[in-house]
Amino acid sequence: MSVLSRQQAEGTNLGFVTLVSIVAAIGGLLFGYDTAVISGAIVFMQQKFHLGPGMQGWAVSCLMIGAIVGAGFAGFLSDRFGRKKMLIVAGFLFVIGSIGSALPATITEFVWARIVGGIGIGISSTLVPLYIAEIAPARHRGSLVSLNQLAVVIGISAIYFVNMWVANLGSPAWDIQSAWRWMFGLGVVPGGIFIILLLFVPESPRWLERHGLGDRALQILTRVNGPTRARVELSEIRDTLNDESGHIGLLFRPGFRVALLVGVVLAILQQVTGINAIMYYAPEIFKQTGAGTNASLIETVITGADNLVFTLISLWLIDRVGRKVLLLIGSAFMTVSIAIVGYAFYTGNTAGPLVLVLILVFVAAFAVSFGPIVWLVMAEIFPTSIRGRATAIASVALWIADYAVSQSFPVLLNSVGASSTFWTFGILSLVAFIFTLALVPETKGKTLEEIERAWGRRNTQSTSTTGR
Ligand code: GLC
Repeated sequence: MSVLSRQQAEGTNLGFVTLVSIVAAIGGLLFGYDTAVISGAIVFMQQKFHLGPGMQGWAVSCLMIGAIVGAGFAGFLSDRFGRKKMLIVAGFLFVIGSIGSALPATITEFVWARIVGGIGIGISSTLVPLYIAEIAPARHRGSLVSLNQLAVVIGISAIYFVNMWVANLGSPAWDIQSAWRWMFGLGVVPGGIFIILLLFVPESPRWLERHGLGDRALQILTRVNGPTRARVELSEIRDTLNDESGHIGLLFRPGFRVALLVGVVLAILQQVTGINAIMYYAPEIFKQTGAGTNASLIETVITGADNLVFTLISLWLIDRVGRKVLLLIGSAFMTVSIAIVGYAFYTGNTAGPLVLVLILVFVAAFAVSFGPIVWLVMAEIFPTSIRGRATAIASVALWIADYAVSQSFPVLLNSVGASSTFWTFGILSLVAFIFTLALVPETKGKTLEEIERAWGRRNTQSTSTTGR
């Protein structure tokens, strides 16, 4: 055997696993696309359907209701039917949602279509990180799973351009009649590509082993890790699964109880520290600093680019520096930058580039930390036999928090004002820092089975302490 082929036989096949992860990450692209598409479309839909403020809010937020439902079902269904099958289902729901949102005769039809698409987004947002975590080699798991977050951010940025481009194609009357339909309808393209490419990726080896399909699991692990490492990994997966009941009650044992707390609280903190107040309302925020319409749109595009660049940097750092350190650095910068934004609004000193710079710092800090790492940690800290259901609990919490922030942000701005709103985000970013310091474990470089055994050890330690 030549040196090269021996290396290939024994070593990690990073090319294959990266391709598989990129295909799965298209699910993240759909997530970004669908959450952001409404920002460009709503202005025209408002005129077409004569929407009042209540109905307008509902047209925007119904997607998240669908996502909460989808995330809720994703866990149970994927533990039962497999990750890959449920990702394909998510792709179909997304395509149906896109067509339905493009062709409605009434706003009620539109809302139903968005709920269907939202269910797809809830499923894929939960399962893409989980699927990649279950197939990736431990040393590269952080960057590979974070391809999902990179795709979310690309999806958000891409739709800003699609919206701008479509809105410039025709007359103002055409915009109201048809432009917004294209914005939603074009989602069929990435959705269709997602479904087709998914047919070529393998099922998660951990799910296969749990369902008695060890031979197929070994084949996939061998393709990813080489034969020697694959056999070791499979026997570790087997041993760990043998110790698990597969019952959701596992989560309430002392060790795993902390994992549940970490997953759910990090999910909520990712949202309540305010990222989507910026993602969804950036132009409004910049207008409040005195920027004109055009300047505020340009500043929004800069914010998107900033998010993209720092997500890429995070991908490079995540398996080198580790999750915990990045979460700590990120939340520290988020706390300081958003607190100063609050102070700028408090003193009325918002003219000039100060607020823009601070928001860029906040978004960059989020992009290297809470953006990708929360989705990653949610996918890697739970036991294999119940991973789908456990990750789904955290994902539902994340989507509810997203809904709450995006609904309350405009109300808060008008009631308590910008300074108190941003200070609240600052306090919550500080809570995120303290919580990470106290409870988040470092999972860099460990296999999923090693992570699981570490929680198990906490379990035995606390049982023996209580027993004493
Ligand atoms: C994360 C969040 C999502 C947010 C995005 C912004 O994916 O979960 O809500 O819009 O980051 O980059």
